[in-house]
Amino acid sequence: MKLVFATHNKNKLEEVKKIVPPHIELVSLTDIGCFDDIPETGATLEENAHIKADYVTKNYGLACFADDTGLLVDALNGAPGVYSARYAGTDKNSDDNMNKLLENLKSKNNRAAHFKTVIALNINNEKYEFSGIVEGEITQAKKGEKGFGYDPIFLPNGYNETFAELPLETKNAISHRGRAMRKLIDFLQ
Ligand code: IMP
Repeated sequence: MKLVFATHNKNKLEEVKKIVPPHIELVSLTDIGCFDDIPETGATLEENAHIKADYVTKNYGLACFADDTGLLVDALNGAPGVYSARYAGTDKNSDDNMNKLLENLKSKNNRAAHFKTVIALNINNEKYEFSGIVEGEITQAKKGEKGFGYDPIFLPNGYNETFAELPLETKNAISHRGRAMRKLIDFLQ
């Protein structure tokens, strides 16, 4: 079965390919010749995930899923949340985003945070939604070279290494996206 993952992000595609069973042929936006930057104009992660999946199904007529993820920090009332990619500006620079977050948390004792992923699936003219969460805390400084986004400053609960230090297999086993993806895969099987 051919299924589009509505992303241009190579890191995310690699993460997801590792957990998709062989009978699902996962293709990216690039693979279907879509080079558009699909606008994420929703007010919630749920809305954005559906906007992206609907864009592909409408314009390419293919079964598709899209994800939208946010990092929600308790002491900042859930910020950066739906604005995680653009927290420090429209160029979506991860270093700038992390620097801004560390700066905004400087005076806070509570560093609890969680990642949340929402996946919207369009298949056989039906719409579905799956979500996954991982709880953790924001470190005082960046640590690790792996991963992407806020990985160097996110310490998952129960671990002594950040997402940027842990092997990808470990991240996938406990991450927001891994959890949401496994719900999607269970549904497709
Ligand atoms: P997206 O909706 O999946 O593109 O995620 C929005 C933003 O959240 C990204 O630009 C990253 O900054 C951040 N993000 C998403 N997933 C992860 C992750 O697994 N680790 C670290 N940061 C992430």
